[in-house]
Amino acid sequence: MKIKVIHGPNLNMLGVREPNIYGPMKLEDINTNMENFAKQNGFEIEFFQSNHEGDIVDAIQESVTDGTGGIIINPAALTHTSIAIRDALAAVKLPAIEVHISNTAAREEFRQKSLISSVVAGTITGFGPFSYHLGLIAMIQILNELKQAQAAQAAQGQPQ
Ligand code: DQA
Repeated sequence: MKIKVIHGPNLNMLGVREPNIYGPMKLEDINTNMENFAKQNGFEIEFFQSNHEGDIVDAIQESVTDGTGGIIINPAALTHTSIAIRDALAAVKLPAIEVHISNTAAREEFRQKSLISSVVAGTITGFGPFSYHLGLIAMIQILNELKQAQAAQAAQGQPQ
C-alpha cells in the first residue's frame, strides 16, 4: 500500500529558507528518511511538492485512483488560506495527517488557524523535521489497523 506525502509552497527551499525556524535539513533528506522507514515497515511512499494550490488539489484527487492508502500533508502557507485543499481532502475520504515543522501555535496570529485540521485524522506540529517521522509512524499505525479490520471482516464472511 502506498502513502502519499505532499509538501506545499516553499518547502522545496528547506535548508536554505529561514533555518532559524525550519532548521538546516533539506527536503530530499527528510524524504529519504521517510522512504527508508516506510520500506522497513512494508509501505511504499510517493512524494509530491508544489508551490501551486491547484496542483496540490490535483495530487489529492488523484490519490483515489493511484493506489494511495493515506496522505501525509504539510500544506505550508496554504494551511491558513486554502478551502480548496481542505475540500479536496474531505472529498477523497482517505486517512490524512497534517504535519508542520514549526510550532505554528507559537508563531504569528495568522498561522494559528488551520483550515485543514478539521478534515484530517490528526496534526503533528513543532518537532522540526521529526514531525514528518511522527506523522509517518501515525499513518502506518492507521493503515495497519485498517488492514486488520478489513482482514477480520473478510474472515467473518468466510464459511467455517
Ligand atoms: C509550515 C508552517 C506554515 O505556517 C508556513 O507557512 C510554512 C511551513 C511548517 O511546516 O512549519 O511554510 O507549514
